[in-house]
Amino acid sequence: MKGLYTLLICLVILALHAAAVGGALPAGILPPEEPVDNPATTAKVELGRKLYFDKRLSVDDTVSCATCHEPEKGFADGKKVAEGIGGKKGTRNSPTTLNAAFLELQFWDGRAVTLEEQAKGPLINPVEMGMPSHEALEKKLRDIPEYRKGFKKTFGTESFTIDHVAKAIAAFERTLVSASSPFDRFIAGDKGAISDDAKAGWVLFNGKARCATCHGFISVYPFFTNNKFHNIGVAMKDANFEKLAREAQKGTATPEELAFREGVAELGRFIVTREPKDIGAFKTPGLRNVALTAPYMHDGSEPTLEAVIDFYDKGGVLNPNLDGGMVPLNLLKKEKSQLVEFMKALTSDDIAQLIKSSQGGGR
Ligand code: HEC
Ligand code: HEC
Repeated sequence: MKGLYTLLICLVILALHAAAVGGALPAGILPPEEPVDNPATTAKVELGRKLYFDKRLSVDDTVSCATCHEPEKGFADGKKVAEGIGGKKGTRNSPTTLNAAFLELQFWDGRAVTLEEQAKGPLINPVEMGMPSHEALEKKLRDIPEYRKGFKKTFGTESFTIDHVAKAIAAFERTLVSASSPFDRFIAGDKGAISDDAKAGWVLFNGKARCATCHGFISVYPFFTNNKFHNIGVAMKDANFEKLAREAQKGTATPEELAFREGVAELGRFIVTREPKDIGAFKTPGLRNVALTAPYMHDGSEPTLEAVIDFYDKGGVLNPNLDGGMVPLNLLKKEKSQLVEFMKALTSDDIAQLIKSSQGGGR
């Protein structure tokens, strides 16, 4: 009897915890790991939320993190490549921030390890939020009374730095989690949770279509990514990679700078590792809620999920570094649509609630 009570209490605690961290996670999935020096508190998450949606974090008060990672657009922006201050175009497609907390590395080329590190980039990027320096942003925010109050309450200091800003934003992003979709109910045993076509798509995904070799589903890490980098040929559509790689090798530009240089950005993981095998290799994106975030690929070059499947059906784009796992698939028309149906079954049931709660409403 005592054991039963303990179990019940544990379940209640777990449920309360789940309620506090945004969307729902299936049993057995722990919330994202947080760095030891940045434990979440309610005040910190609230501060991070405010910062995430605040356009004053950009040089001309027009762009916030949410401009490119908008809750209503699947926490992405629906654009081919990102557009920052003054409509300036970046080099890559905005990935979703939903479940980014579970990724081993951040950015398409993995150049940041933690969310804290990631968050510092866009703030001073000339085509994103355009602040001249982190110091300039610190000064701007310290002049806003509500932030002085918020940082004091959260970190115990009014002379906060960029590290505090990044910590608060990252703590908020760790609440942007959700892994409860019709597919998850299906996996948990509810055979009617997804359509027969989606079920056939799931079989193809793991078999004939070979998707699972990179986007594999693991019950303890159900995010459909191996967190590795592959050249599937997206970048190889039109570029002279030898010339670009030589350009990247020269000089002292950082990966962050190279990632925003037109053309060079297409080298992908290479700009971080400088290893020829990584030319044109990009991070395998997770596939949860993927139906909400068209267009696709690191350059937004595929407009729909149907187009993505056609791309894979052809075996990607042939090039010297093409991943060995990429071969023509000879999928039937029906099989292509079944794969799309499967991916649509990965949209979270609680997405509407999550959009609301991420914006600070609905609780
Ligand atoms: C102008 C649009 C824009 C703004 C503003 C912006 N981002 Fe991004 N974000 C992007 C793009 C584009 C990438 C991918 C860049 C790359 O891989 O080189 C990205 C990548 C990310 C990633 C990595 C996700 C992954 O799957 O690897 C996270 C997390 C993220 N942004 C959070 C933020 C936060 C937090 C802010 C505000 C401080 C912010 N972004 C501001 C466009 C933007
Ligand atoms: C060899 C590894 C590999 C295989 C096999 C593979 N993918 Fe991918 N997938 C990737 C990588 C890497 C990217 C990003 C490539 C880029 O943008 O350059 C990607 C991108 C995607 C995207 C775009 C997601 C987004 O947010 O932009 C979708 C959708 C996708 N894959 C689905 C599939 C499906 C369905 C299959 C099977 C037909 C499949 N993948 C097979 C590695 C793979």
